[in-house]
Amino acid sequence: MKKIISVVGARPNFMKMAPVHKQLLKHKKKIIHKIVHTGQHYDKRMSDVFFKDLGLPKPDIYLGIGSKSHAEQKALVMIELEKVIKKEKPDLVLVYGDVNSTSAASLVCSKQSGDQLHAIPVAHIESGLRSFDRSMPEEINRLVTDVLADFLFVTEPSGVRNLQKEGISDKKIFFTGNTMIDSLITLLPVIKKSNILKELCISENNYALITLHRPSNVDSKDNLAKVINIITGINNISPKTDIVFPVHPRTQKMLEKFGLLKNLESTNNLILTEPLGYVDFMRLVSTAKFILTDSGGIQEESTYLKIPCITLRDSTERPVTTELGTNTITGLDEKAVKKAIEQIEKGVYKKGKIPKFWDGNSAERIVKVILEKI
Ligand code: UD1
Repeated sequence: MKKIISVVGARPNFMKMAPVHKQLLKHKKKIIHKIVHTGQHYDKRMSDVFFKDLGLPKPDIYLGIGSKSHAEQKALVMIELEKVIKKEKPDLVLVYGDVNSTSAASLVCSKQSGDQLHAIPVAHIESGLRSFDRSMPEEINRLVTDVLADFLFVTEPSGVRNLQKEGISDKKIFFTGNTMIDSLITLLPVIKKSNILKELCISENNYALITLHRPSNVDSKDNLAKVINIITGINNISPKTDIVFPVHPRTQKMLEKFGLLKNLESTNNLILTEPLGYVDFMRLVSTAKFILTDSGGIQEESTYLKIPCITLRDSTERPVTTELGTNTITGLDEKAVKKAIEQIEKGVYKKGKIPKFWDGNSAERIVKVILEKI
């Protein structure tokens, strides 16, 4: 019997892990899979709802770390996770994406010491993505995790190229596709049944969906004010379009701190909500007229669903979404955002194609490799 531990902490990890968990369950005579939740995201709206929507069991181990400065958060994850790893002695640890919990877990496993002198192999799911912007905490997490991981599972061709350029051996790199898209494909029938459009009194293809939480956009008063101008500007280009904005806790805090809520609320047709669960949120993504976001995952989900996505960042670590998909990178350039929305209104915006291996079978490919390797 082999033991595999998945370490997850923040919202986007849960969607990436769910299909891998389901595949591993198919091999339960050979493999025990345990889920460790660091507690980086700790409240019901940011965590529990996702476990429920994705059909995941309760985590086997909860570290309860919570919100801290990056150094404190990672240090506490490392201290608590080390105890778990020493006790459980897993054969492999799976880490996902680019959040603080991911890089912290990779460091713990690569440097076991004392009574357990060998390192624990780490597999990184969603490896190789690079924004080449080291001011993003996620880019640091990606670099640290990839340099330490033993198996690197990649979602798009740029990931393979980036890892090769960084000198990582081809033997460690596996282009297996996107497990977040596996979750989306599996749950589409459930997503279609969500009542969220009715609850918000909006209709298909007549609303814009906004998400915002990157420190670069929300932690600076000037940038947050610029983003709000962009949101308010939608009224001038698309006066009849509703605007749905589920507000991330970080963004809520900063809007209050900078006294910018009033500016935002002056927007017409604006519907502010709390963070939504996976099913309701994806229902909104699936029939939005367009999306304005600074998220990583939403650039991919909108590409799969062929919904226009305007990304309020200067770079993307997911270039396939702009090259093949429906994503446009505008940063906080109001003119570029206006141009994209005008193209959408005129029906001349790019239609997009679905990238290779975004087919619902990525977790199956990953687990096949894992079974061969452990
Ligand atoms: C984290 C990830 C980011 C990911 C995002 C998805 C890192 C570096 N960033 O950013 O890559 O896209 O999650 O949401 O790991 N908070 C709550 N309730 C919670 C969790 C957080 O209120 O359940 C508040 C915290 O008090 C904190 C803020 O949200 O002020 C930020 O939380 P944190 O986990 O540090 O980063 P995110 O911005 O969510």
